Amino acid sequence: MFERRIAVIGAGYVGLTTAACLASLGHRVTCADIDRGKVQRLQDGEVDIVEPDLPALVAEGLAAGRLSFVASATAALAGPGGGAEVVFLCLPTPMGVGGLADLGAVEAVAEEIAADLKAGCIVVDKSTVPVGTAARTRVLLGRDDVSVVSNPEFLREGTAVQDFLHPDRIVVGSDSQDAAERVAALYSRLGAPTVLTDPASAELVKYAANCFLAMKLSYVNSLAELCERLNADIGAVTAGIGYDRRVGHSFLSPGPGWGGSCLPKDTRAMLQIADSTDFEFRLLRAAIETNDRQRQRMVDKIRIAVTGSRAGSLSRTRLGLLGLTFKAGTDDTRDSPSLAIAALLRQAGAVLIAYDPAVAADPVRPELADIMIVDEPYLAAKDVDALVILTEWPDFRVLDWARMAKLVRRPVVVDTRNLLDPDVLSRAGWAWYGIGHRK
Ligand code: UDX
Repeated sequence: MFERRIAVIGAGYVGLTTAACLASLGHRVTCADIDRGKVQRLQDGEVDIVEPDLPALVAEGLAAGRLSFVASATAALAGPGGGAEVVFLCLPTPMGVGGLADLGAVEAVAEEIAADLKAGCIVVDKSTVPVGTAARTRVLLGRDDVSVVSNPEFLREGTAVQDFLHPDRIVVGSDSQDAAERVAALYSRLGAPTVLTDPASAELVKYAANCFLAMKLSYVNSLAELCERLNADIGAVTAGIGYDRRVGHSFLSPGPGWGGSCLPKDTRAMLQIADSTDFEFRLLRAAIETNDRQRQRMVDKIRIAVTGSRAGSLSRTRLGLLGLTFKAGTDDTRDSPSLAIAALLRQAGAVLIAYDPAVAADPVRPELADIMIVDEPYLAAKDVDALVILTEWPDFRVLDWARMAKLVRRPVVVDTRNLLDPDVLSRAGWAWYGIGHRK
């Protein structure tokens, strides 16, 4: 089996997953991060993000001597066994001014490593970057003997390792056919369909996929609203359309709005990309606006459940929130709809008590200020006027809802994920409000 010497720059969830998975495929990988503490912990096999299977893969790579961690990009290029043949850039590209991805980290690293790249090596952009970044990276590197390839990741938080090892597809874009084929060959053991294309098309694929998913969810959330008005049931409607293979069942669950580190950032960046070509991407803009409105719609729902009226006041109402992360299976609260809804509830004067299995109280996190975080779901129910399910943690389904009913002031639950079984809740004495259901 062939084995390549690979450097991965950035040990966030994309970089670390990429490094550990490439090592498990038999390559020799050196992964760099500027956070020395993190590098030290990784060398000791400690993974500080919640990502199933990742700690085991890191341990396996370290033990086999195929994976190592260093504190600088240039050290990663040197790596054991000689100079890296392929260098993956897995750096943060946060939302910058106007919504376009901020490429500061990618640019800084490109400049830092330019002189140390060995002749014939390939630099791979794995971060989600604006169309044209591969071309820009080439200019920044200023090296005719180095190829640049765009190879977007499609990893979901919480299932990143599975997504890496069982991909739906691999996308590789480059002006150099040879470099594209060499990068595609790194994944050959995975047997996934591979799209070889030019850099701009590869860069666009990532945005196109995430924007499609965001539009699908905004469509479902709009359908849920329509169901409420028509006395129809969103569960039946999505089951009915999901069996159409052209639609599919996935990404059809209504919720409090989509969030996380990718969809909000990528949809806004795509709008900017479209704007920069004078193209008015109305469909996408409407999906974003629908998502922003979804949060307020959830607050209205809570208001009606608690006060009986759309105009009722939530001032000094005690609300118990279940779930703060943007989805279940992760400890990430970036752009979490739960926190956006919590902020709106606080503005309306509500007092918030919250429980999330992956979030602990932390006085230095401003987004958690003014929320009393408890470490047990039953504590979040104590004397509240209503409970609100915000994240679809399966643990919440199996709580002792009869016991919960005894703790609250009023047994009212607003389930923004349609997670709970309404029959179970009703037997336990609860008034259950889901989304997209008959009144
Ligand atoms: C996403 C993309 O799926 C992934 O391909 C990309 O590389 C990174 O962005 P991620 O942000 O980890 O992954 O989460 P994902 O599982 O896609 O969920 C995104 C948001 O949509 C979450 O807020 C989630 O709760 C919401 N969602 C998802 C729904 O509301 N309903 C669904 O049916 C699915």
